[in-house]
Amino acid sequence: MYQIDLSLKRISCVLFVFLLIWCVTDAVDDNRYLSPKKFGQLRGDEIIRFYGYPGEEHKVLTEDGYILTNFRIANPGGYPILFIHGLTATSDCWFVGGPAHDLSFRLWRRGYDVWLWNGRGNLYSMDHVNISWSDEKFYKFSMHELGYYDTTASIDYILNVTGHKSVITIGHSMGTTNVLIAAASRPEYQPKIALNILLAPGAFQRNLVTRGFSDTSYSQYVRWFNFDHLERILEKDSFYFKINQLFCDPTGPTAELCYFSMGLISGLGSNQTVKDAVMKMMTKFPAGTSLNVLKQEIQNLRSGDFSPLSYSRKENLKRYGTPKPSPYPLGKVQIPTAIYYGCCNDLLSHVKDTKLLKSRLPNVIRFYKVPYRLFNHGDFLWAKDAYRLLYKDIIILIDQFTPYQYRSNVTIEPVSID
Ligand SMILES: *[C@@H]1O[C@H](CO)[C@@H](O)[C@H](O)[C@H]1NC(C)=O
Ligand SMILES: *[C@@H]1O[C@H](CO)[C@@H](O)[C@H](O)[C@H]1NC(C)=O
Ligand SMILES: *[C@@H]1O[C@H](CO)[C@@H](O)[C@H](O)[C@H]1NC(C)=O
Ligand SMILES: *[C@@H]1O[C@H](CO)[C@@H](O)[C@H](O)[C@H]1NC(C)=O
Repeated sequence: MYQIDLSLKRISCVLFVFLLIWCVTDAVDDNRYLSPKKFGQLRGDEIIRFYGYPGEEHKVLTEDGYILTNFRIANPGGYPILFIHGLTATSDCWFVGGPAHDLSFRLWRRGYDVWLWNGRGNLYSMDHVNISWSDEKFYKFSMHELGYYDTTASIDYILNVTGHKSVITIGHSMGTTNVLIAAASRPEYQPKIALNILLAPGAFQRNLVTRGFSDTSYSQYVRWFNFDHLERILEKDSFYFKINQLFCDPTGPTAELCYFSMGLISGLGSNQTVKDAVMKMMTKFPAGTSLNVLKQEIQNLRSGDFSPLSYSRKENLKRYGTPKPSPYPLGKVQIPTAIYYGCCNDLLSHVKDTKLLKSRLPNVIRFYKVPYRLFNHGDFLWAKDAYRLLYKDIIILIDQFTPYQYRSNVTIEPVSID
């Protein structure tokens, strides 16, 4: 009798331990450590699930046949928020700090339904109904199409799946141009966006500190390094992509140099930069785009305007109905817009250009200077004190612009002083 009791006890103990392990691995764990190396191996939805959150993948078809892979931290019924990454980034840039830190996870915990966009040509969005990504025709797009087609299709998809009438959008860097382009060229989309949040905006480039460098690099690349005259650049599995993967291998010999190079393009001297987060970012950056995206940036940088890509006269007539494209009519964008910017150390978004953008938009409801002088371009994603410096402000604003019945009732976390 005693013997049987003992083995029963053993069996239940073992079962209990299994249950415990099962529970623990399945539960939300904001502090579970994800190394940069492992981060590089996981897809967006897998990263979300790694932390115990409900990660989903969604395929979105655009009007011109591209198939985007968007991710979602699902909160069915919650009010939808769409995150839009910048130039040659992926949606994984919204996860580099981990759930305790990132705005994406913070908003999910407040009850929001979080969606994350991946533009055509980045390593997640390489499909088209008719064209293979190895075909040059796949890469005939610029920033314009990222806004005009990819952003609108993603918004329609979200509204269709969730039954909501509008979304809130958050873009970083060049990702801030998407909604501006969509709203300026397709005004019928304006009512579908309740609030547009721009972090370190990338529309005007008149005062870009690295202006000369960017212009020269682009011209020299086209002249000397684009030997096969491909329209794609830095795409998955390409020569440059592989070199970068090697250079930025988080456990490789050049990891420190890779880290430093990100500081160089982002802004040196910030005490906010988290190395682990930067190394995570670099496992999926740069993640590919079309050369025409860069070309549009360079044209804008030269002209000082914010305009669609100019092709030949004939092609312009076909695409825009005019021999030359006219600047996007920003004055017609009535969407409530919030702009968050760094004053003095953001190498890729100059404060004068940000002020110019503000003066052109008729409905800027928040113009917020991050209260730290050395805040840089990447800090918007990974700053140590991002919550204190800007995320808390963003969260309060988002709550205000959420339709009353979907507004979060979770208390806003106070800023901890440590
Ligand atoms: C794909 O190819 C089919 C057949 O040629 C054509 O009818 C359709 O318009 C194409 N779709 C796109 C988006 O290019
Ligand atoms: C909306 O969703 C329905 C069913 O989920 C689908 O059949 C339809 O094609 C979708 N429409 C759009 C525009 O995505
Ligand atoms: C960064 O520098 C600012 C201003 O000098 C200082 O107030 C802040 O405490 C520093 N933060 C960290 C994390 O070192
Ligand atoms: C907060 O909102 C959730 C979801 O709408 C609801 O289930 C919950 O009862 C609310 N809590 C309070 C304290 O109102």
